Amino acid sequence: MRETSLDPQAVEQLQREAAKLKKINAALMSRVERSMDQQLNAFSLFETAIALDHKVRDRTYQLREALHSVERANEGLNRLDTILTRMSEATRLEQLVREGERERFNARAVLAGCISGYAGVYPHRRFELATGETPVMLNGAPDLFAQMLDKLAANAVDFSSGEDAVKFSLEQNDNEAVLILTNSGVLLPAEMQGRLFESMISMRPRSHAGEPHLGLGLYIVRMIAEFHGGRVAAHNRPDGSGVVFELHFPVAG
Ligand SMILES: Nc1ncnc2c1ncn2[C@@H]1O[C@H](COP(=O)(O)OP(=O)(O)O)[C@@H](O)[C@H]1O
Ligand SMILES: [Mg+2]
Repeated sequence: MRETSLDPQAVEQLQREAAKLKKINAALMSRVERSMDQQLNAFSLFETAIALDHKVRDRTYQLREALHSVERANEGLNRLDTILTRMSEATRLEQLVREGERERFNARAVLAGCISGYAGVYPHRRFELATGETPVMLNGAPDLFAQMLDKLAANAVDFSSGEDAVKFSLEQNDNEAVLILTNSGVLLPAEMQGRLFESMISMRPRSHAGEPHLGLGLYIVRMIAEFHGGRVAAHNRPDGSGVVFELHFPVAG
């Protein structure tokens, strides 16, 4: 009864209200949907971030590893480079020695010159030289003789402690020049006594860092000494406090 009593204007009004409500409802719904969507997006973004984080970490780790292996490879290459340099140095010496160009020179002056040079090369070490004033003339090559002294000095520095002086002496007895080098410290390994002057004999503890030591030093010493008609020997000091290298040369007539 009431319905029939509604006038058409009121019905229209109600219909408009209903349409409005519907619109509002739709708007609200879409807003809710959008925000849910955003929440979903936000969630997946978070997930992506985590996944990316893992990926980035993995990648960083891989890169770091790659860099390390490049570094290791580079170290290896540097080492190889040094090894090749040392070997070609020895080969060049072998050739020089074979060619055999010799001159008369004063070994005493060469020795004195080298020793004053070592003060600069090894500033924390002390070198002593005992020799007379008279020249000690040898037949050979002064630059090779100096290289021989360099090898002996380098070993003496490496194998002895910083406080003790490395001592050189050069004397002439009749027709023989005697060069002696002695340093305190590590003794010569008994089992290697006869072989120290061979090539590739090194008794250093193996180390992967630093300079490679090929055991060519004393081989070069022997090669150069023999070029000068000389001979070399090494022994421990009788009191066991260090080593002695003894080189004998015929003096030049
Ligand atoms: N002055 C020294 N004092 C003690 N040991 C030495 C000395 N010189 C050489 N040696 C011993 O002789 C070995 C061979 O010397 P070397 O031929 O110069 O090779 P490297 O120096 O490459 O080890 C050394 O590894 C060391 O054991
Ligand atoms: Mg050496």
